Amino acid sequence: METPARPLHLLPLLLLLCGECAQVCGCNETGMLERLPRCGKAFADVMRKVDVWKWCNLSEFIVYYESFTNCTELESTLVGCYWPNPLAQSFITGVHRQFFSNCTVDRAHWEDPPDEVLIPLIAVPVVLTVAMAGLVVWRSKRTDQLL
Ligand SMILES: *[C@@H]1O[C@H](CO)[C@@H](O)[C@H](O)[C@H]1NC(C)=O
Ligand SMILES: *[C@@H]1O[C@H](CO)[C@@H](O)[C@H](O)[C@H]1NC(C)=O
Ligand SMILES: *[C@@H]1O[C@H](CO)[C@@H](O)[C@H](O)[C@H]1NC(C)=O
Ligand SMILES: *[C@@H]1O[C@H](CO)[C@@H](O)[C@H](O)[C@H]1NC(C)=O
Repeated sequence: METPARPLHLLPLLLLLCGECAQVCGCNETGMLERLPRCGKAFADVMRKVDVWKWCNLSEFIVYYESFTNCTELESTLVGCYWPNPLAQSFITGVHRQFFSNCTVDRAHWEDPPDEVLIPLIAVPVVLTVAMAGLVVWRSKRTDQLL
């Protein structure tokens, strides 16, 4: 009963071969740069259906984001390019900037630690540094007196 699963197992192998081929056959960067915007456009189209105020909530659009990533991967390998590669990466970053540039400002949605946690985290090293510096000054003064 293993046989039906076989073709699925071949897919990663094929993709791997495509990747291997990239070095030999050459990655057509022109072709890739022509194809990637199709993925970007498809992503922009579905994101337009998501309310803007939900754009920073990853769980709202993770499915679209995955298929966008899949799309860039597929198109890149089709033209014999490795994925990820710097060109595709900078394209994805550009799309990121277009949609999520305002999200880092709204810290709550990315679940950063609240201030109650952050303040001790920052304060403790500061207090320690001041204390250590004071100790060094105090010790050096004592040595001065001893000499
Ligand atoms: C690369 O892709 C471009 C655009 O699709 C095409 O015109 C060109 O012939 C391709 N070059 C190679 C070497 O395949
Ligand atoms: C993000 O969206 C999910 C699914 O709709 C929802 O359950 C969750 O409360 C939202 N989170 C925030 C921070 O809005
Ligand atoms: C993207 O590809 C992965 C692995 O090939 C697959 O598991 C996943 O379901 C795909 N996601 C979408 C949204 O197509
Ligand atoms: C980010 O905020 C600026 C200023 O409020 C706004 O002009 C821009 O359209 C916003 N970008 C996104 C992707 O929401």
